[in-house]
Amino acid sequence: MKVLGFESSCDETGVALVEFEGQVAPRLKAEALHSQIVMHQAYGGVVPELASRDHIRRVIPLTREVMARAGCALAEVDCIAYTQGPGLAGALLVGAGVAVSLAAALGKPAVAVHHLEGHLLSPFLSEDPPEFPFIALLVSGGHTQLMRVDDVGQYELLGETIDDAAGEAFDKSAKLLGLPYPGGPHLAKLAEQGDATAFALPRPLLHSGQPDFSFAGLKTAVLTQVKKLGEQITEQQRADVAASMQAAIVEVLLKKSLLALKISGLKRLVVAGGVGANAELRRQLNAACAKRGVRVHYPELRLCTDNGAMIAMAAALRLQRGLAQTSTEGSFEIRPRWPLDAIA
Ligand code: KG4
Ligand code: ZN
Repeated sequence: MKVLGFESSCDETGVALVEFEGQVAPRLKAEALHSQIVMHQAYGGVVPELASRDHIRRVIPLTREVMARAGCALAEVDCIAYTQGPGLAGALLVGAGVAVSLAAALGKPAVAVHHLEGHLLSPFLSEDPPEFPFIALLVSGGHTQLMRVDDVGQYELLGETIDDAAGEAFDKSAKLLGLPYPGGPHLAKLAEQGDATAFALPRPLLHSGQPDFSFAGLKTAVLTQVKKLGEQITEQQRADVAASMQAAIVEVLLKKSLLALKISGLKRLVVAGGVGANAELRRQLNAACAKRGVRVHYPELRLCTDNGAMIAMAAALRLQRGLAQTSTEGSFEIRPRWPLDAIA
């Protein structure tokens, strides 16, 4: 079974082909991605209208590229998957519109996929996929959640952020330090030169005893610190703020992940979403989990951020279990706001 997947929820256009037979683990055959980061950089963040227009420009050439790389004709595709939500409405409409029209033209079913389920299941694209059940730490630009995952489609939300997401905190703090969008990777790079103990920044809700998060106060603390240092801020001080900020986020993510593992009694952790690419987070999670006999799984670095492969993979795993919401009607809905634990 060949599944062609489309991702267009935010600022990346991703297309990928995944193949499986029976209950054998699905494999990625080919993928192509276009990131709009450079286009949005001039504005310091994603401009939704520009994102939608760029998805329109890229999606067909990327699809051609994927089919050529896979050496496969469109007629051989069995199913078309697309991100239904959550995300930017206009951006979602592009991927969904193309996917559903293509499915109708080919006479094949279309499968709607939840973007976060794509992230959550992205480690199944790696050589060493996780086994169920596991705890998932989902850390992206829009979400910070800890979930208990018993199987595909069986997600129990254990805790989430009550305000900003971890990626958002990275991005906003980076902006305050004058770093380009998206700030996460730039701040992480700057932090390498800094002293993580230089500034005492808050670790909100660290001792709440619940696997919940709050990052809005941290951003405000960074703002206060940067203002205090003023115009004369040195390169070293900028690096110190970056390192101190990263340390605060990493400590909270680490402690809450360990708490969720403890509460559930599970010994397996999956880290997914853009912030999962953070090297310091990986280093600390690896060390703490090794001590506790917990296995940690990450998607490949390039698959941490948005991509089409995770959407095709999530659809394939659902199809294998008879759980995919397929449609052959040529009509579709998008869901810009869609909680993951609301999916069946
Ligand atoms: O999962 P993703 O591509 O998009 C969403 O679905 O939101 O995540 C993007 C987020 C951005 O906030 C970005 O700054 C952050 O992931 N990010 C990082 C790193 N790489 C990406 N944050 C910290 N360190 C990184 N290395
Ligand atoms: Zn994402």
